[in-house]
Amino acid sequence: MKKPSVNLTVCFIAVVVVVVSFFFFCLGHNGYRIRTSPVRRYLRDIDINNSSRLFNVTLQRKGGYVIMDNGIVQVTLSTPDGDVVGLSYNGIPNILETKNEEQNRGYWDAVWNNPDEPIATDRLKGESYEVIIGNEEQLEISFNKTWSSGVGNETVPVNVDKRYVLLRGSSGFYSYGIFERPTGWPQIEMDQVRIVFKLQSQMFDYMAVSDDRQRVMPTMLDRENGEPLAFPEAVLLTNPSNEELRGEVDDKYQYSTEDKDNQVHGWICSDPPVGFWMITPTDEFRVAGPVKQDLTSHAGPITLSMFVSTHYAGKDIGMRFAAGEPWKKVFGPVFVYLNSVSPEEDSLSLWEDAKQQLAIEINDWPYTFPQSEDFPSSAQRGSVTGQLLVRDGYISSRLMRASNAFVGLALPGPVGSWQTESKGYQFWTQADNHGNFLIKNIRVGVYNLYAFVPGFIGDYKYKANITIEFGSEINLDVMVFDPPRQGPTLWEIGFPDRTAAEFYVPDPYPTLMNKLYNNHADKFRQYGLWERYAAIYPNNDLVFTVGVDDYTVDWFYAHVNRNVGNQTYEATTWEIRFFLQSVNQTANYTLQIALASAAECELQVRLNNRESEQSAFSTGRIGKDNAIARHGIHGLYWLYSIPFPGDQFLQGNNSIYLTQARSESPFEGLMYDYIRLEAPPLT
Ligand SMILES: *[C@@H]1O[C@H](CO)[C@@H](O)[C@H](O)[C@H]1NC(C)=O
Ligand SMILES: *[C@@H]1O[C@H](CO)[C@@H](O)[C@H](O)[C@H]1NC(C)=O
Ligand SMILES: *[C@@H]1O[C@H](CO)[C@@H](O)[C@H](O)[C@H]1NC(C)=O
Ligand SMILES: *[C@@H]1O[C@H](CO)[C@@H](O)[C@H](O)[C@H]1NC(C)=O
Ligand SMILES: *[C@@H]1O[C@H](CO)[C@@H](O)[C@H](O)[C@H]1NC(C)=O
Ligand SMILES: *[C@@H]1O[C@H](CO)[C@@H](O)[C@H](O)[C@H]1NC(C)=O
Ligand SMILES: *[C@@H]1O[C@H](CO)[C@@H](O)[C@H](O)[C@H]1NC(C)=O
Ligand SMILES: *[C@@H]1O[C@H](CO)[C@@H](O)[C@H](O)[C@H]1NC(C)=O
Ligand SMILES: *[C@@H]1O[C@H](CO)[C@@H](O)[C@H](O)[C@H]1NC(C)=O
Ligand SMILES: *[C@@H]1O[C@H](CO)[C@@H](O)[C@H](O)[C@H]1NC(C)=O
Repeated sequence: MKKPSVNLTVCFIAVVVVVVSFFFFCLGHNGYRIRTSPVRRYLRDIDINNSSRLFNVTLQRKGGYVIMDNGIVQVTLSTPDGDVVGLSYNGIPNILETKNEEQNRGYWDAVWNNPDEPIATDRLKGESYEVIIGNEEQLEISFNKTWSSGVGNETVPVNVDKRYVLLRGSSGFYSYGIFERPTGWPQIEMDQVRIVFKLQSQMFDYMAVSDDRQRVMPTMLDRENGEPLAFPEAVLLTNPSNEELRGEVDDKYQYSTEDKDNQVHGWICSDPPVGFWMITPTDEFRVAGPVKQDLTSHAGPITLSMFVSTHYAGKDIGMRFAAGEPWKKVFGPVFVYLNSVSPEEDSLSLWEDAKQQLAIEINDWPYTFPQSEDFPSSAQRGSVTGQLLVRDGYISSRLMRASNAFVGLALPGPVGSWQTESKGYQFWTQADNHGNFLIKNIRVGVYNLYAFVPGFIGDYKYKANITIEFGSEINLDVMVFDPPRQGPTLWEIGFPDRTAAEFYVPDPYPTLMNKLYNNHADKFRQYGLWERYAAIYPNNDLVFTVGVDDYTVDWFYAHVNRNVGNQTYEATTWEIRFFLQSVNQTANYTLQIALASAAECELQVRLNNRESEQSAFSTGRIGKDNAIARHGIHGLYWLYSIPFPGDQFLQGNNSIYLTQARSESPFEGLMYDYIRLEAPPLT
């Protein structure tokens, strides 16, 4: 695909500026992305090689393969498996790694287990294939795998219909999968579903995950020649082929992203200048809500589309199916987009072009091309609109706007259950400054409406079930969220937004850096920061004095244990010192503790009695989100409202002791989101 001449490019940029401004205008207005179709048509026309539009979409069957071709890309699929073994574009015979076996280039897989059996990976190989539609405009091929009790326990008891779609004039192809368990099938757990693409390592060396997360990457061989660190995913590059990478750390989890932002990522080859992108126009088929984090692209060069995973959450959110439980879900379509510029142009502009393509795909969502009747069209979906307000009489006597609230629909469940829900669809948006929201394109079904609001603790759930039917337009009008609160604030530490990002994130060890994250807002993605606690607090633990200390510099981002050498770790106790002018001995005070992450940890709370054997409160052992080791700044959210009788406080100085009691490994720890001490209720 060649770009138009300079004048046209200038004009094109001007149009993009106008489009983007309009786009943000709309976003500001109601939190939703609206673009008009004439603009989209203009973008699309200019964005493709018009002569390529003349090509009809064709299908060739050759030996054990089918080849889909639209004159722009040629996709070779193995039959009946349905793996992507070839992807030809821009004169390059195969974008995928030809050194790999054919079945190890582009494929779907699922991680699952029978109860009490070890975890297994199923490559979801098709057993038969069928051309669902094939004409000069579009091609859709199904690769079907069916299960029956006769096949034994070695493949996952799920029917999987993998689809690949090629459209006329489209610089890429789509894939989606229909997963189904009829009633009566055995009990299983399924923790991961994804698509994987492995690209030519000789070509693709530059990876882009966002505007400010892009870099030249090490190769798989560089990793093999390096030194594994505390876990195998993290490698110190001691012998890289590119000398500039020597001494850096590589870890795929350093490139994770919250699902709401995981819309386009991929790779650039500079010679010839070609880009390979995974574009995901919606988050509806992923799991566990908008701030669930997951992998994107990583050294290999590898690009993933993660549909289901336990990353940054733990097995608690894996899909568990009871014996007999029916289930069906459509994952995707996602778009594999290819782009190119002429050798004279800057190959990094391919990232900007990929973002423009994302805007086009978002505008086209829900797609009209999928042939499966399990993929509903726009007209078969519904919408919900409303306004969320917050009532907290200790902050304001008036109702407050739930500015930028996250509002979403997920399967019915308890308050906050969306963050561990993994079987259904979820539909989220962010409200505007006034708390107004509009959620579009919701599939038919019964949901609960959930919300959480930056600046406030706790979770909102609308009182009634919400039933979406074809074309539903539900207006919920004004809803009021009462965040947890028992009395006025005596003091608070942090900002309630479900992350630990506002706390002190240390510099990495100079010998263990990923240079991408030097002088970067996402400093927390560096390797080994957890070990810095023992370096900063070698003997005595953290003490925070309310009114004196500043949580941005005096509160370590993670409550970890201390490495005392010889692979031995000890529990740590943090102290919060505060002064009370007077105490009401007969009333309860409330300590609100919101955690941003928990991994095999136990938080014990004591008041004015550090040594007491019995803690006033303990979480017990909680959490498997592993966000400390995986450089996330949060995992799952936990909120504890802990009452303390007034007679345990002292007039004058008091101390709350927070003990992270687990110390078998350095990754047993937690992150705080926010802590608040509330005085007794005003009567
Ligand atoms: C358009 O695509 C065709 C077929 O891929 C190619 O031969 C031609 O050079 C392209 N033209 C331009 C102007 O990019
Ligand atoms: C592509 O086709 C449109 C009309 O369909 C035309 O306006 C435009 O100039 C063409 N672009 C190029 C680069 O030929
Ligand atoms: C594309 O298909 C149409 C309809 O089958 C046919 O009339 C036309 O000749 C084809 N064009 C090319 C370039 O093969
Ligand atoms: C795939 O297999 C399932 C289960 O046997 C069946 O219901 C479905 O119709 C098949 N799909 C196609 C496209 O053949
Ligand atoms: C299948 O069953 C055998 C025998 O019980 C067991 O050893 C094996 O791990 C099972 N495989 C899977 C994938 O569950
Ligand atoms: C809401 O829907 C769920 C699931 O369909 C159902 O179990 C529950 O009883 C419903 N609750 C109400 C109040 O209708
Ligand atoms: C380190 O731990 C091992 C095993 O617990 C012990 O035998 C050894 O004496 C320890 N070394 C030091 C220096 O403490
Ligand atoms: C204080 O909290 C305890 C435990 O929740 C409760 O039993 C007690 O009634 C409360 N006291 C007052 C004065 O509210
Ligand atoms: C102390 O708390 C009790 C129970 O909430 C309340 O009745 C009483 O008025 C409070 N005393 C003072 C001095 O505020
Ligand atoms: C109370 O704490 C403050 C600040 O830590 C300290 O300066 C003061 O000496 C303490 N007062 C008493 C009576 O211990």
